[in-house]
Formats: sequence, C-alpha cells, structure tokens
Amino acid sequence: MNKKPIVMAAIGGVLLFGTYAFSPAPPQGEHENNLKFLPKDISHDDLMAVMHSFEAATGMNCGDCHTHSATDPNKMDWGADTKHKETTIAMMKMVQELNKQYFAVEGDFKDNYLQSQYKVSCNSCHNGHEEPNNMVTIPIPEKR
Ligand code: HEC
Ligand code: HEC
Repeated sequence: MNKKPIVMAAIGGVLLFGTYAFSPAPPQGEHENNLKFLPKDISHDDLMAVMHSFEAATGMNCGDCHTHSATDPNKMDWGADTKHKETTIAMMKMVQELNKQYFAVEGDFKDNYLQSQYKVSCNSCHNGHEEPNNMVTIPIPEKR
C-alpha cells in the first residue's frame, strides 16, 4: 500500500494547525471595528487578505502590530491602537497619496491595493523587511 498520501496529509494537518496557532484569525464579526482608514464595512475576507499581505510585505506578524486584550491576556484586542498600527495607517495614506499624485491611480485604497493596481505598494519599499533598505547605491569604480 502506498503510505505517501497519508504522510502528506499528516504533514499538511500539522502545517495548517501551526498557521492557525500563530496567526489567530478572529472569527467573523468578533473584531471591534475601530477601523480608521479601511472601510468599516470591509468583508472579513478582504480584511484578512490585507492583513496577510501586510505580514508578507513587512515580515511582521499579527502580534507585532496588534496587542493582547487588557482584560483577558489569552485574547487579542484587534481594535486597540498601537504604535505600529498608527505607522501602518500613515503608510496606507502615503501609498494612496503617492499613487494618486505621481501615477494617476485614483480611488479607494482597499480595492486598488487588493487588485494590485498601485504602481508603488508596501512591498516596493519593504520587500519583506520591517525597515526598508535606505542605503545609497555607489557606482562601481571604472577599471583603469
Ligand atoms: C504591519 C501591521 C499589521 C499586521 C502585520 C497585521 N495588522 Fe491587523 N491591522 C493593522 C492596522 C493598521 C489595522 C487598522 C486599519 C484601519 O484602521 O483602517 C488593522 C486592523 C485589524 C483588524 C480590525 C480591527 C478593528 O478595529 O475592527 C483585525 C481583526 C486585524 N487587523 C487582524 C489581524 C490579523 C489576524 C493579523 C495577522 C494575520 C494582522 N491583523 C496583521 C495592522 C496590521
Ligand atoms: C515609499 C516607501 C514605503 C512604502 C511604499 C511603504 N513604506 Fe512602510 N516604511 C518605509 C520606511 C522608510 C520606514 C521606516 C521609517 C523609519 O525608519 O522611521 C517604514 C516603516 C514602516 C513600519 C514601521 C516599522 C518599524 O518597525 O518601525 C511599518 C509597520 C510599515 N512601514 C508598514 C508599511 C505598510 C503596511 C505599507 C503599505 C501600506 C508600507 N509600509 C509602505 C517606507 C515605505
């Protein structure tokens, strides 16, 4: 008998469990809606798509931008304001502004962002890192 599919399924199960254990996506409707920039009526799927893309672009995790509930440390308080949330909101506004001003991409952040309409997006600068590389490139000296 071929045991490979069973082994693969077991590994898949562990991976899936790991993913859920470390990025606790809140059940639909559980979040408190303290949204300040994304539309308040954003669907749960769109919200999570934005959040996961922020993780990928910056290399950060849910818990780097969000904080635990003050009353129950086993729970996350997704709506609570944090320094990194504030920075991220400023970044979203910047992305919207610079695409509008320099690349003539008009309209709502959420839709442009999720549909990859922006010419410059989080990943253009962050490329998977919390702090973008700001080193000045120096030309390679000419051989004499
Ligand atoms: C780089 C920072 C960052 C990361 C990483 C991040 N978030 Fe967020 N999250 C935000 C910001 C900023 C907002 C608020 C956006 C706004 O106000 O428009 C937010 C809002 C939310 C909300 C809605 C809160 C409310 O007020 O209703 C939920 C739920 C949420 N995030 C879940 C997650 C989950 C789950 C993850 C990991 C998979 C995650 N976030 C990763 C920055 C982040
Ligand atoms: C034009 C380049 C650029 C774009 C686009 C950009 N960022 Fe940034 N971001 C930066 C720079 C530069 C810093 C570091 C600022 C500093 O060192 O004080 C930063 C800092 C941050 C930080 C704080 C990191 C820390 O630990 O201090 C977060 C979080 C962040 N950006 C998220 C985002 C997200 C999410 C997006 C897309 C919505 C985005 N950024 C788009 C350039 C950019």
